[in-house]
Amino acid sequence: MNVMVIGGGGREHAIVRKLKESPRIDTLYVLPGNGGMDGDAVCVPEIGAKDIPAIVDFAKSHAIGYAVVAPDDPLALGAVDALSAIGVPCFGPNAAAARIESSKVFAKDLMKKYGIPTAAYEVFTDLEAALSYVETCPLPTVIKADGLALGKGVIIAETLEEAKEALRSMMADKVFGDSGSRVVIEEFLTGPEVSVLSFTDGETVVPMVSSMDHKRALDHDQGLNTGGMGTVAPNPYYTAEVAQVCMDTIFLPTIRAMKAEGKPFKGCLYFGLMLTPKGPKVIEYNCRFGDPETQVVLPLLESDLLTVMEATTNGTLAETPVKWKAGHACCVVLASKGYPSHYDKGFPITLPETGENEEIYIAGAKRAEDGALVTNGGRVLGAVATADTLAQAIDAAYALAHRIHFDNAYCRADIGQRALKAMEER
Ligand code: AMP
Ligand code: GLY
Repeated sequence: MNVMVIGGGGREHAIVRKLKESPRIDTLYVLPGNGGMDGDAVCVPEIGAKDIPAIVDFAKSHAIGYAVVAPDDPLALGAVDALSAIGVPCFGPNAAAARIESSKVFAKDLMKKYGIPTAAYEVFTDLEAALSYVETCPLPTVIKADGLALGKGVIIAETLEEAKEALRSMMADKVFGDSGSRVVIEEFLTGPEVSVLSFTDGETVVPMVSSMDHKRALDHDQGLNTGGMGTVAPNPYYTAEVAQVCMDTIFLPTIRAMKAEGKPFKGCLYFGLMLTPKGPKVIEYNCRFGDPETQVVLPLLESDLLTVMEATTNGTLAETPVKWKAGHACCVVLASKGYPSHYDKGFPITLPETGENEEIYIAGAKRAEDGALVTNGGRVLGAVATADTLAQAIDAAYALAHRIHFDNAYCRADIGQRALKAMEER
């Protein structure tokens, strides 16, 4: 069977690598992919991830038997709806179910209606009303643009002035365009964060190995928010006891709520959780695999990824075993110095040979005219290692990262340290 993956970052590279192990795939395509993936799949750089008509044409002309839509934009734009309409089975939610990520107001209202624990909140479409409400909120307070905003639509305001500034820039200056026409003002929660990606067919939900992201650009969680500077899996804060509470109070209620709303969710539902003193609460839902969470979760998957993905489409997840390897994984993101603000591109990348427990997933890179791989984005790649212990996985991921070279490379030095400390304290 021919399979295509939509997307072109490190997450998609990890998905491609895992799918490649499947004996049932004849040709694996990735649209658009990137220059660093061309050894693993046939890249189709001329078709962007948001170009739904071209994706549909490609599926027809290349006898695609299964499609994996990985990023949020094509999911929100209805890539799964369009492909399903021509009979191509897909991994991922349709546009209606993808609203769980593409509208924070939809997600918050769903949680309120079905009693799923989350931060208390109010929704505003009127700037003056939002400005006067925020004066009554304890600080810090959290301001979120309703729509997709490239991961930048969340402001944690430490002062009233910052909160008002955030509201004005979203609602009046429209820095996120229409995404900021509606805003959510919510309670600030505290506690360790856990990412739990799950497979679901709309009825059954199978959580994957938990993980911990490192969102800030600089060591010790300083600096700007980024797409994620590194990850470890599993997340030591996510004990078996916490997992059971999450299943009973969050995962199953969410899947049932989406079904009850007439929007059964199929694909990967990502639960961004905070383990607060009052129990686990939902910070956000994503309608897709996380990046760079996928880079540490999929290397620990024992089962055939294609088989599990197909079960989410066919509604047979309850009968499909999903097995995980013991051990730990760590991903250190090598970024271009300056990311997430200004950075330069076009530096040649030297990649080492990788060993059995090492993976390099390329995100922001392309082939130059002479065929050399050069940097082409903020997050350039992820250096991933798996090992028996978390400490070994962290050391091995850094050792791998240090064998990779390009000018202006930058990585955080403390990926996994908080997790390590949590394990030692347990
Ligand atoms: P999001 O884009 O919704 O994941 O938010 C980005 C980051 O902001 C999260 O990973 C949290 O660290 C933080 N955050 C979001 N909402 C809250 C909240 N209600 N309380 C505390 N921190 C939050
Ligand atoms: N790493 C966070 C995300 O994928 O949204």
